[in-house]
Amino acid sequence: MTVTALAWSGNNLSAAPATIRPKELWPDERGQHVQAHGGGIIKLGDTFYWFGEDRTRTNDQGRRYVGCYSSKNLADWTFRNQVLKLADPENFGTNWILERPKVYYNAPTKKYVMYMHIDGPMPGQKGNYRLARVGVAVCDTVDGDYQYLKSFRPLGHESRDLGQFIDDDGTAYLIFEDRPFGFRIAKLSEDYLSVEKEICLIPEHMEGGAIVHFNGLYYVLGSALTSWSPNPNKYATAKSLAGPWSEFKDIAPPETKTYGSQSSMLLKVVGTKTTSVIFMGDIWKPKTQWDSRYLWMPVEIGGGTMRLPEPKPWTLDVKTGEAQIQK
Ligand code: GAL
Repeated sequence: MTVTALAWSGNNLSAAPATIRPKELWPDERGQHVQAHGGGIIKLGDTFYWFGEDRTRTNDQGRRYVGCYSSKNLADWTFRNQVLKLADPENFGTNWILERPKVYYNAPTKKYVMYMHIDGPMPGQKGNYRLARVGVAVCDTVDGDYQYLKSFRPLGHESRDLGQFIDDDGTAYLIFEDRPFGFRIAKLSEDYLSVEKEICLIPEHMEGGAIVHFNGLYYVLGSALTSWSPNPNKYATAKSLAGPWSEFKDIAPPETKTYGSQSSMLLKVVGTKTTSVIFMGDIWKPKTQWDSRYLWMPVEIGGGTMRLPEPKPWTLDVKTGEAQIQK
């Protein structure tokens, strides 16, 4: 009798569609809930990498962690590494904050560059979100141990929630919330290690900023400033990133408060048959952050409108780009 190796169809080996279940626990290949809150995704070859806040309950309280996971179908995720396990790098103070990490791949330098919201208290001021900076860390491999480089205020502005946008031509942008003014879209420098140029200030007080470029239009999305509590997220459109931007409209019925979630990224999946855009949102549980959930749904998008459908289990075929919501 010949012994044939069993074809293992486990996590991360297959691009075959599998079900994505909004709001539920999302087990990785170890059976542990994915820790990539306030996250972002990049695709390298045929593999997606998801980075986000790792809020594992047993993490060392003095450190801040970024988790990295990989997948070929965006449903089955394999834990790769806690790519950052950072102790307070600049004497920010015990309550220092690291949130919403995003990773870019810089082709000229072959480095992976992580941006993150860095915050903490300031002497004489109340609250822990006073520094309002971005932090930058780099690595030679996508899922290696990132080295923290520095923090700064981008173009001299306050920066809290940040978002990542890479345009179809490969240009990399940072979206950041500048509390006194609104939120800004800025282009990164050639090596991505600094923020080079402002493209637009959108004078709306919004955070959780995300952008997608779809059929010749830019769609920008964000939430209101209500801390960990959900609110009606809104979007606007423009032909150019520099604007002019349309009025902001609700992405979902406002009474649902974005079905209890907050925007983090809009992920475009271009397939052989169609293109799907995924709303990636967080359902925060501020007292039990490790149990915060994800709300990912394909949006109905086109002609200047974007709608987040009621969350239901769904599947995505990353090859064809087709998304199917279960009835
Ligand atoms: C939210 C923000 C989160 C976190 C939180 C703290 O509005 O999106 O990333 O900063 O506030 O209150």
